[in-house]
Amino acid sequence: MSDIRTYHPRRGRMSPAQRSTVDLLIPVLGLPDGPLGIAGPVVLEIGFGLGHATIEMARADPATTIVAADVHTPGVARLLAALDREHITNVRVEHGDAVTLLRDRVPEDRLEGIRAFFPDPWPKARHHKRRLVRPDLVALMASRMRPGGRLHLATDWEPYAEAMLEVLGDEPRLTNAYERWAPRLERPVTKFELQGVDRGHVVRDLVFVRV
Ligand SMILES: C[S@@+](CC[C@H](N)C(=O)[O-])C[C@H]1O[C@@H](n2cnc3c(N)ncnc32)[C@H](O)[C@@H]1O
Repeated sequence: MSDIRTYHPRRGRMSPAQRSTVDLLIPVLGLPDGPLGIAGPVVLEIGFGLGHATIEMARADPATTIVAADVHTPGVARLLAALDREHITNVRVEHGDAVTLLRDRVPEDRLEGIRAFFPDPWPKARHHKRRLVRPDLVALMASRMRPGGRLHLATDWEPYAEAMLEVLGDEPRLTNAYERWAPRLERPVTKFELQGVDRGHVVRDLVFVRV
């Protein structure tokens, strides 16, 4: 697996108030260090951004634990504060790289699903190697889902959507749940989706199932 990161490192932008929220709430609502030790069904959300979708998904399915990972520091503080305020207990927040989490701490065949909504499109050709949906990382994601587990992606960047279809189609452990695009599922609307729609972009959903 290549070590190329899928995000811009932009640490240290947290305000003092956000920092104290994180210090206070990570011990309670954060994903504990070490191997994933959660009982019952677990879904991983990669790149929760501001966490709007995370909250709605957690409310809609209280029996499933959502492990929500992002490297974006203000978003981490925002999601932690919202979970605390709304007494949502089935989310564990990982402030860090979801790829290393998957590689080092999630056992094979473990997850019910992986969701990544509007992952950074990295539109320039020389940046395609940073995309989350690239062959080595798709193989990693497939290996960590249980047979029958669902990988759900959405993007408003048409060339990335086409590339996703191709890369996912080439992974032998995944099969498309639909002929091409998935219908828009019960996915909550996110900030990036609204921005994309405002710019006239078409939003594509893809659902692939672990065989
Ligand atoms: C374009 S934003 C979309 C955010 C949100 N899902 C939405 O739809 O509004 C992509 C997010 O993925 C995060 N990200 C990128 N690579 C990541 C990784 N390897 N692990 C965790 N988060 C990552 C970025 O920090 C960013 O917040």
